[in-house]
Amino acid sequence: MSQENKALFIIFGGTGDLAKRKLYPSLFRLFRKGMINKRFAVIGTARREWTNDYFRDVVIESIESLEPSAEEIAAFTSHFYYQSHNVNDTEEYKVLGELANQLDETYKLEGNRLFYLAMAPRFFGTISKHIKSEKIMTETGFSRLIIEKPFGTDYETAKQLNDEIAAVFNEDQIFRIDHYLGKEMIQNISAVRFGNNIFESLWNHQYIDNVQITLAEDLGVEERGGYYDQSGALKDMVQNHILQVVALLAMEPPTIFSEEAIRTEKINALKSIRVYTEDEVNQNFVRGQYAHGKLSGKEFVSYQEEPGVEENSQTETFVAGKLMIDNFRWAGVPFYIRTGKRLTEKGTRINIVFKSTPINVFREASDITTNLPENILTIYIQPTEGFSLSLNGKEIGDGFNIDPVKLDYRHSQENLDNSPEAYEKLILDCLKGDATNFTHWDEVANSWKIVDVVRQTWDKEEADIPTYSAASMGPKCAFDLLEKDNRHWIWHPDEWYKMHGFLKE
Ligand code: BG6
Repeated sequence: MSQENKALFIIFGGTGDLAKRKLYPSLFRLFRKGMINKRFAVIGTARREWTNDYFRDVVIESIESLEPSAEEIAAFTSHFYYQSHNVNDTEEYKVLGELANQLDETYKLEGNRLFYLAMAPRFFGTISKHIKSEKIMTETGFSRLIIEKPFGTDYETAKQLNDEIAAVFNEDQIFRIDHYLGKEMIQNISAVRFGNNIFESLWNHQYIDNVQITLAEDLGVEERGGYYDQSGALKDMVQNHILQVVALLAMEPPTIFSEEAIRTEKINALKSIRVYTEDEVNQNFVRGQYAHGKLSGKEFVSYQEEPGVEENSQTETFVAGKLMIDNFRWAGVPFYIRTGKRLTEKGTRINIVFKSTPINVFREASDITTNLPENILTIYIQPTEGFSLSLNGKEIGDGFNIDPVKLDYRHSQENLDNSPEAYEKLILDCLKGDATNFTHWDEVANSWKIVDVVRQTWDKEEADIPTYSAASMGPKCAFDLLEKDNRHWIWHPDEWYKMHGFLKE
């Protein structure tokens, strides 16, 4: 049975960075696998005046690293068309609509359309409105909208944006991208939890002491200083990616692994996260900004020296926080989260820290006289992918010394190289109409409510934002946050660099 999907992709923002870096390569991978084949077409639109040929050259450049053959290039790019377009000009939508109809006929697409808005959210409303009024949405086939973050800048703006889109598209036609949900190991969270009774039966406040989620980046803001300075780590990473990971870890088991059931449970989990008062924000959330730093002889400038960043900017490039989930399963279990730019190492990982045994029966026989080390389940999201479980065993030899050991599984490099990229998976899901790995409006709304109060509290703060040295693992207050609970961050890549003299204490 052919797996070919039929659709016309209309990409608004077709000349942009995201389209070139992610969308065209993902479409090419789907093409190579036969998921899209003969019956698809792509219209790239943006303000610039480009010809089809020029557009196709840009597409070729964007897939270069995938080493396409000459035949593949010819076959793939022949499906690409360019239409310059001013999103505010109604007349131009008519031209776009005509081209869409014509391509629909040429490629026999049966009215299936996927509108990809890879541009600033302030245009989402007007584009959606025109797609409807100028009848670019079809009556036959499907019409789906894919939108990129940021979805609003707080709850109010997100709601306004959603109202504008919802006036045209039904919720089941809207696919809000959170690219973390396309990552292999994020999807694996559900497999680990609901496929293994040994974990799911322990997955609650009786057995879990705390959960730690780290989304660390070694890069700085690169060329995105202008955007980032307005956003900061809280809105860039916590409101979306981190809260999605929390929802997947915290949700109740769905009755069946379906879009509807998972969504319901994720929404419930997000609703159970405590929305703090301003006082509680000050107790439970910290932030920081990277200062100048040095790692392995390489020097990094401070955030404030990055291009596009305002002088004396107070924008946070690091956030750590403690979330509490007020339901039966999670009462009293802190979910510690942290994310930052210019940290020691790129790495996304989750540590599930189980409670220690109630008593250490080996306290007199072993070197470990206090509590035994906790069992920790680690889920490695990226760049390495896999799981590890730390256990306590007996050290080989005389006596009865307890020795922590680690059961470790990582996906092989070959598997990693061959596994589909997040965007590729998400575009395919959208073609199939499966919104499991996209964020529903209720998820977005609840996530904003959780972070809005944090933002508002910080906006009132008069003292300068704490700083951390580039290449460290964040400001001191991020370590204090756990220390005051008598806990510590499980993952500390900086220690290895310090031990080997690559990073100063
Ligand atoms: C994006 C943020 O959503 O995620 C970026 O806007 C960040 O600032 C990126 O760098 C991280 O994604 P990944 O897949 O590299 O972890």
